[in-house]
Amino acid sequence: MVTVGEYVERASAVFDGAELFYGHGTDNAFDEAVYLVFATLDIAFDDPEAYSRVIARDECDLLDSRVADRVEKHTPVAYLVGQAWFGGMRFIADARALIPRSPLAELIAEGCAPFVSHPPERILDLCCGGGCIGILAAHQFLLARVDLADLSADALSLARENVSLHTLADRVSLRQSNLFEALEGRYDLMLSNPPYVPLDEVLELPPEYSHEPSLGLISEDDGLAIPLQILREAPDYLSDGGVLVMEVGYSVEQLSARLAQVPLLWLEFAHGGEGVLAITRDELLRYRDQFN
Ligand SMILES: C[S@@+](CC[C@H](N)C(=O)[O-])C[C@H]1O[C@@H](n2cnc3c(N)ncnc32)[C@H](O)[C@@H]1O
Repeated sequence: MVTVGEYVERASAVFDGAELFYGHGTDNAFDEAVYLVFATLDIAFDDPEAYSRVIARDECDLLDSRVADRVEKHTPVAYLVGQAWFGGMRFIADARALIPRSPLAELIAEGCAPFVSHPPERILDLCCGGGCIGILAAHQFLLARVDLADLSADALSLARENVSLHTLADRVSLRQSNLFEALEGRYDLMLSNPPYVPLDEVLELPPEYSHEPSLGLISEDDGLAIPLQILREAPDYLSDGGVLVMEVGYSVEQLSARLAQVPLLWLEFAHGGEGVLAITRDELLRYRDQFN
């Protein structure tokens, strides 16, 4: 007989003794164990009785096999338990799309202040994956219509499930599109976490990343091909006064060096994360020739 508290301690010790990478939702062995155990057993994270609950035999078998997959196959916990948290909301997560972790969550939860002075009517989540960014934005801006766009049919099928989970189908639409190709009209706010990792760096990433679709990670030209294309084409899809907020993560240095003439605004986050820029349509038009 083992309690939840005892199992969490045991799993945490196993994780500590293994060479695991944390970065898909937690940053240490104990939190990773809590995530795995609580999500597997469907226990609320704030349940005060949780740690003394006794785990049934079949539950223990399931937990054992998930702990083994985490350690031996380096499968991220989000994929093992099929869910991830983003900006305080729960999302279905599986290998059809990257695990949500963008610092954009913090910005959206704050209403994208100070870039958005009045509530946006149309929002685009470009390269939406499982839809976490656009769905969080729809949750924040209650009157906005939101388009979720991605090239991957797999990612869009997961995004559709998340739209349905959050009962947002009346305001949130899905578009299969190679960047802007299949999109129409103008958006007041464009949010994007596109692929921005150079191929040689993807090959060096910890094994946890190999479970995620490479289409979501890799971008040619030192990681900058897709971000630069977005900067180039975005003004044609932004309304007057519209804003693009885009994450380029660790490619911040390469992009800043490439765009030395452009006064890019890099955002700071209280809860960690870097490499997110905000730029208005006017600025995108002014510096358009730099984005080639
Ligand atoms: C870094 S993931 C971001 C997923 C999600 N927005 C998030 O933050 O978790 C990038 C996404 O871009 C999509 N993608 C890659 N190339 C694309 C393209 N040319 N046009 C549209 N989407 C693309 C991938 O399928 C992937 O879902």
